[in-house]
Amino acid sequence: MLNILLFVVFPYVALAIGIVGTIYRYLTNQYSFTSLSSQLLENDWQFWGSTLWHYGILPTTVIHLAGFTVPKIMAALHSTPEMLYLAEVAGKILGIMALVGVGILLYRRLASSKVRTVTSPVDWIVLALLFGQVLFGLILAFGYRWGAAWFLHTATPWMASLATFQPAPQYVTALPLAHKVHFLTGFLLFALMPFSRLVHIVTFPTSYAWRRFQLVIWTRRKAAQ
Ligand code: HEM
Repeated sequence: MLNILLFVVFPYVALAIGIVGTIYRYLTNQYSFTSLSSQLLENDWQFWGSTLWHYGILPTTVIHLAGFTVPKIMAALHSTPEMLYLAEVAGKILGIMALVGVGILLYRRLASSKVRTVTSPVDWIVLALLFGQVLFGLILAFGYRWGAAWFLHTATPWMASLATFQPAPQYVTALPLAHKVHFLTGFLLFALMPFSRLVHIVTFPTSYAWRRFQLVIWTRRKAAQ
C-alpha cells in the first residue's frame, strides 16, 4: 500500500500540481516567471555557483530525459565497455560540478546578509532539496556503479509505466533507500516548481547561449568624497 502511495499516487499528484500550477501561474502572473536575480547584491560567489550548477545540471537533466524517452538509443550508446566507462566518468564529473555549484549558492545565501534578506522560506527549501537531490544522485553513481546500464532497467520502465497510465511500481520498490529518496525528491521538486523560482526553467532562455553579454550596472552616483 505504501509503495502504491509513494511510487504511483505521489508522482501523479506531483506532476498534476507542477503542470496545472505552472500553467495557472503563467496565465495569471506571467511576469513572475523569473529566477529573481540577486546578482547585483553579490556576484563573486554567484558567478561560480551558478556557472558550475547550470553546466553540471543541464547536461545531467538532458541525460536523464534521454534515459526516460529514448532508452534504446541510450542502450546502444552504452553498448561497449569503453562508452559505459566514459558515461560513468562524465556523469560523475557533471554531478560533482552541480553539487559544488549548488553548495556555493547555498553558502552564498547563508553568508551574505544582503542576499539572506531577499531569500524566502521556499528558496531555502528548494536550494536544500536540490543539494540533497544531487548528493543522493552522486551516492547512486558512486555507490552503485554502471548506472547508465541499470537506469534503463529500473527508472526507465517505471517512468514509462507512469506515462502510459499502466503504473508498475515494482520496477523501483525493491531498490535501496537511496534510490527511492532520489526518485521521490525528483517529483517533489517538480511539484514545487510553480511555487518557487524553479518556474524560470520553462521559459527556456535558449538565446542566452549566443546573445551578447548584458552588463548590468548601478546608475546611482557615488557619494561625494
Ligand atoms: C524522478 C526523477 C529521477 C529519477 C528516476 C532519477 C534517476 C537517477 C538514477 C537512476 C541515477 C544514477 C545514474 C548513474 O549512476 O549513472 C541518477 C543520478 C543522478 N541524478 Fe537523478 N533522477 C531523477 C531526478 C533527478 C533530478 C530532478 C536531479 C537534479 C536536480 C537529478 C540529479 C542527478 C545527479 C546529479 C546524478 C548523479 C550523476 C550521474 O551519474 O548521472 N536527478 N538519477
